[in-house]
Amino acid sequence: MSFIVAIDGPAGSGKGTITKLVAEKLGFITIDTGAMYRCVTLSALKNNVAPTDEMNLKQILNNIKIEMKKVDGNQKVYLNGEDVTKQIRTTEINKNVSAYSAIPYVRAKITPLQRKMGESQNVIMEGRDIGTVVFPNADVKIFLDASDEEIAKRRYKQNLERGMDVTYEQVLEDIKRRNELDSHREIAPLKKAEDAVYIDSSNLTIDEVVEKVIGIIEVRKTKKQI
Ligand code: DC
Repeated sequence: MSFIVAIDGPAGSGKGTITKLVAEKLGFITIDTGAMYRCVTLSALKNNVAPTDEMNLKQILNNIKIEMKKVDGNQKVYLNGEDVTKQIRTTEINKNVSAYSAIPYVRAKITPLQRKMGESQNVIMEGRDIGTVVFPNADVKIFLDASDEEIAKRRYKQNLERGMDVTYEQVLEDIKRRNELDSHREIAPLKKAEDAVYIDSSNLTIDEVVEKVIGIIEVRKTKKQI
């Protein structure tokens, strides 16, 4: 029997960090569903396939192989056998990923892959539509939110640490644009599931959020008796 935790929220709300820390403490597998849409985007851009080029995009999807593995304690993403962990995090991918992930047949391909990954293990899956579409029956649903300004501040700091040359204003604009697109697309938009627990992390430390999430999971686990 698997136990599924869905964590949804806007870009930069801290989903990735929280998911990783909670999973480490509880011994759960993590699945970063955004990385899968980033892989589709990377493959399309590399092959010069626009979001409107249905025939070629479908061909890419037919042959795509996405794997997530832990190597020496680090989570790695492989696209058709190539390590693309870094390549999928560039400004170029950030700019284009919302357009590709809004396409119904892209989601029709990726969603079943995500369901399969969560079928037989204890997982924390993070994304935009996990609690609403991918696993509407998840054992725990969290909607992690934060203000655009707080998100931009965190991302800007992260970028500086990674040596990326982007201004705070550019980061804020990218975040606003992407979250606007992700929340207003027709298919599987970013939305809090009715039964999700809402956590605004704007004024909370990482440890405080981790503690809250673990508390919610523990209560549910006791009820499910695992
Ligand atoms: O979580 P992220 O920022 O790496 O996600 C990248 C993009 O992928 C995000 O802007 C929207 C899309 N996405 C999605 O549509 N559905 C998901 N479950 C996860 C991500």
